[in-house]
Parts: sequence; C-alpha cells; structure tokens
Amino acid sequence: MLIDIRDASKSYGRWPALEHVSLHVAAGEFVVISGPSGAGKTTLLRLIWMGDMPDSGVVQVAGYRSDMMKPGHLSRLRRRIGVVFQDFRLLPDRTVFDNVALPLVVSGSSGRAVRKRVFSLLAMMGLSHRRDSFPHQLAGGEQQRVAIARAMVAYPEILLADEPTGNLDPDATAGIISQLMDINRGGTAVVMATHDPRRIPPGSARFLFLDGGRLTDSTDWSDLEGER
Ligand SMILES: Nc1ncnc2c1ncn2[C@@H]1O[C@H](COP(=O)(O)OP(=O)(O)O)[C@@H](O)[C@H]1O
Ligand SMILES: [Mg+2]
Repeated sequence: MLIDIRDASKSYGRWPALEHVSLHVAAGEFVVISGPSGAGKTTLLRLIWMGDMPDSGVVQVAGYRSDMMKPGHLSRLRRRIGVVFQDFRLLPDRTVFDNVALPLVVSGSSGRAVRKRVFSLLAMMGLSHRRDSFPHQLAGGEQQRVAIARAMVAYPEILLADEPTGNLDPDATAGIISQLMDINRGGTAVVMATHDPRRIPPGSARFLFLDGGRLTDSTDWSDLEGER
C-alpha cells in the first residue's frame, strides 16, 4: 500500500482537525477528497507529506512510518511526493523553465538531464512556448500547469493536489483536471482535495468525503449537494 493511514487524529489546540481517519491508497490510484471548508482536507494532505504528524494513529507513506521517522527520512520521502497548492506557489522572479527545473537543480542533476526532463514536461503541459516567461505573465491555469510540472519533475509516485482548481475559471479547471488524469494514467497516484468534486468525471476516481474531520466513502453524489 502506497499510503496507509490508520486511525489518525490531529488537533490544533482544542479543535480536532481530523478524527480517527483511516485511508489506504494503492499505487496508481486517483482519490478525490471532498468536503466543505474547514473539513480537514489540507490537514489530511499535510499528514501524507508529513508536514505534520498525527497526535495518534499512524501514517505510512511509501514505506516511511510517521512514528519511526529518522533524520534524513523526511527529505527522502518528500522526493517521492509532488505537491500542488491552490495558490500555485511559483517563484515570481524565476522563469517557467527555472521554476520547473528547481527541484532537479537542487538535487544536483546535470544541466543536460535537467533540460531534457523540463522540456518534455513543458511539452506535455502545452507550455513549451512559455518557457522563458515569468509567472505574472501567465494566466492562472498556465501557472497551475507550471506548478504541476514542477511537482512532477522528479518522477514522484504520489501527486498531492490541494484545491488545485480553487482559483481557476471553469475552462482552466477542466484543463487542470484532464492533466491530472493524464498524469494518473502514467502511473502516478493522485490524491486531490476539492470542495467541488463534480468537476471530476465519475468513474475516473475514488471519491471520499470529509466533514468535521471525519472521513467517509461517498459514491452517493446526493451527499455532495449543497457543498458548492
Ligand atoms: N495550522 C493550524 N493551526 C490552527 N488550526 C488549524 C491549522 N490548520 C488547520 N486548522 C484548523 O483545522 C480545521 C481543518 O482545517 P483544514 O485542514 O485547513 O480544512 P480544509 O482544508 O478542509 O478547509 C479547521 O478548523 C482549521 O481552522
Ligand atoms: Mg484546505
């Protein structure tokens, strides 16, 4: 199991953000976690990339266990996970190419290997012509595609996307979702948090519902009415 969360709870101060959550994600799955604002979606994703540890329960990701982490494990785990956020988080003073290349440059890849990988990802994302642009010159949907390319540059096994379409119009949203589905078809497990799961074609993902820190299966779309 690529992601194995067992009975994890997490509170910030007095308030529980997640309560007794269990989640299993196999390699290559596409899982959508929906739920209203404050439901705990971001907290759940943060536990997966171990930006936070559970107060109780165990989070195991790609063989790394939250209760058995040693120095150096976190950076090795993070290399196997790509993360995309609602607000893109691109470096404003770097070009598209440099934003996407950065994780490889930091890890010491050769210039030739970096160019090959970045050019191929930019082509896949339909962004080759934007290589030398700066983030502020791009539309929101393009910025998010740059962020996805950056998240994918080191061939992660897991891509986490936290409300990736939250700042985008319907056209750009459809583009991002189809990119995520392509990435998933390439074998990367995708876990996406969204308050609007109906943008994702039914049957293309496993849909879970989070509310008040509690996770439930939700293939019943009527449960989701009223969450927009
Ligand atoms: N770093 C934090 N400090 C304090 N409270 C937090 C923090 N992160 C999340 N919370 C609280 O935990 C709950 C779940 O938040 P979050 O995981 O961000 O939900 P969602 O992403 O579904 O909107 C909310 O009540 C939120 O206010
Ligand atoms: Mg959130």
